[in-house]
Amino acid sequence: MQIRIFPDAPNLAEAAAADIAGWLSLPGNRTIGLAGGSTPRATYQLLRESPGALADIDAWMTDERFVPIDHPDSNAGMAAAALFDHVDAILHPCPIEEGGEPDEVAERYEEMLATLLPQGADGRPQPGLVVLGLGPDGHTASLFPGSPALEVADRDFVANWVEEKGEWRLTATFGLLARARRIMFLVSGESKADIVADIVDRDAAHPASRVANAARDGVWLLDQAAASKLSF
Ligand code: 6PG
Repeated sequence: MQIRIFPDAPNLAEAAAADIAGWLSLPGNRTIGLAGGSTPRATYQLLRESPGALADIDAWMTDERFVPIDHPDSNAGMAAAALFDHVDAILHPCPIEEGGEPDEVAERYEEMLATLLPQGADGRPQPGLVVLGLGPDGHTASLFPGSPALEVADRDFVANWVEEKGEWRLTATFGLLARARRIMFLVSGESKADIVADIVDRDAAHPASRVANAARDGVWLLDQAAASKLSF
């Protein structure tokens, strides 16, 4: 994994937006998987300034809360307001409004991803660029420590009951994320310094470490505060 450190969160967001726009401008790079969170949101807002790079791009959610898109907690609602309501790209939210239990919605989204994403060499759906955040507990997407989705090996997108939050999440699995052609972790703020050091310095077992270790081409974009406990 490559590591890049920026003075502060706005600088990080600017670099992330430039990297994403650059990647999406290359021939054949047509899809982006999106995270929720404040660091990604700042990046999405800046991407409004690169409408050409976003034109006709298909965006999908790496995870979602089980709420309608107009709910303040919706990750897709955040991404729409920050970017996709303003550019000519296509955002594919999890079809929560269509109804059904979390498992059924996850299965429908998995089927949609199988047609949206190109096939990799192994014949399975392959994400292009994937943007991820990091929680202070080591979660990424909605792969929370100790949650059932960590054990799933034969699915790309599942419903995940997160006991400590007492709520359902929908999430990409390790399997799907590991097939991404590029993974970009966006992490800012002092509250992330311990977990960043644990993952990057000590390679401790957290869901985000597992994704980072499996990434074919991965980069951590950190601000100085999030990087402040790294040993180098
Ligand atoms: C959640 C949060 C979470 C978030 C990270 C990073 O669903 O529990 O949205 O996944 O992405 O905690 O968030 P920040 O980018 O705001 O630090």
